[in-house]
Amino acid sequence: MIIIITGTSKGIGFEIAELLGKKGHIVYGFSRRTVNSSYFTSLSVDVTDKEQIEEAVSMILRKEGRIEVLINNAGMGMVGAVEDTSKQDIQNLFTLNLIGPVQMITAVLPAMREQKLGKIINISSIGSEMGLPFRGFYSASKSALDKVSEALRYEVKNWHVQVTTVHLGDIKTTIAESRIRTKVSQVYKKVFERVYHLMNQHVAKGTEAIEVAVYIEGLLERRDWKAHYYFGKLGQRIGVPLKWILPQNFYEKLMRKYSQMDEY
Ligand SMILES: NC(=O)c1ccc[n+]([C@@H]2O[C@H](COP(=O)([O-])OP(=O)(O)OC[C@H]3O[C@@H](n4cnc5c(N)ncnc54)[C@H](OP(=O)(O)O)[C@@H]3O)[C@@H](O)[C@H]2O)c1
Repeated sequence: MIIIITGTSKGIGFEIAELLGKKGHIVYGFSRRTVNSSYFTSLSVDVTDKEQIEEAVSMILRKEGRIEVLINNAGMGMVGAVEDTSKQDIQNLFTLNLIGPVQMITAVLPAMREQKLGKIINISSIGSEMGLPFRGFYSASKSALDKVSEALRYEVKNWHVQVTTVHLGDIKTTIAESRIRTKVSQVYKKVFERVYHLMNQHVAKGTEAIEVAVYIEGLLERRDWKAHYYFGKLGQRIGVPLKWILPQNFYEKLMRKYSQMDEY
């Protein structure tokens, strides 16, 4: 298959691109920094730049004649209190985590519709299903992408284009280093530092990125996709059904404990 993956210079995207390339697919990876790989073609494309995307997609279509799969993986985290976060920080985050994937989708859809065939995977987070403390805007940006994916499924089904969202738990990558850390005011500092340390520990002890790649490879072989898939440690995945099953206040108590929010 001809596959485009975004965010392939490191982390999860790199592992997916290498694995799918090794399995014999023709893979193009988009990231701002290019990398050397024997298994995929790395192109310098900023997914927030519509012109760069369109140029790269046209080049791939001229060369390969089709694009069967798009994996929207490029994204970043942001930490800080809701109250402290600037408009600019929110705009930067949503530009990458929401507008970037949407621009990628609009660039490949005409070809997928013409082919009457296509698969689009949007990489989201288990944290998109709940407002995580000090990650409110990250949760919101991924949640916005989830809802766009759900709507898109209806809109493109008649052309046999499938869309799904893969919600990940903590995965061991360098995401913690590239997160935007907003200014944190004194009132939140003590609890923020504790929660921040904990979230970095979760990433450091997270699932290996190669396991995500293997999961995505398996997903590409499935015939009919559901709207949402969840991948990660059971202790994190379980948070999603628990939110709907448990009484709301009890669920919040559990989340406060899990996030060590209790002692201000
Ligand atoms: N790691 C986790 O625990 C975790 C959990 C849930 C969800 N996720 C999601 O999984 C995805 C990948 O995360 P990761 O952990 O692999 O992150 P990462 O190690 O920080 O890698 C992020 C990738 O995105 C690329 N990127 C960033 N801005 C870009 C832009 N403007 N245009 C093109 N590419 C850009 C980066 O390349 P350049 O800097 O070279 O552009 C890099 O290759 C993200 O969407 C993230 O939200 C991760």
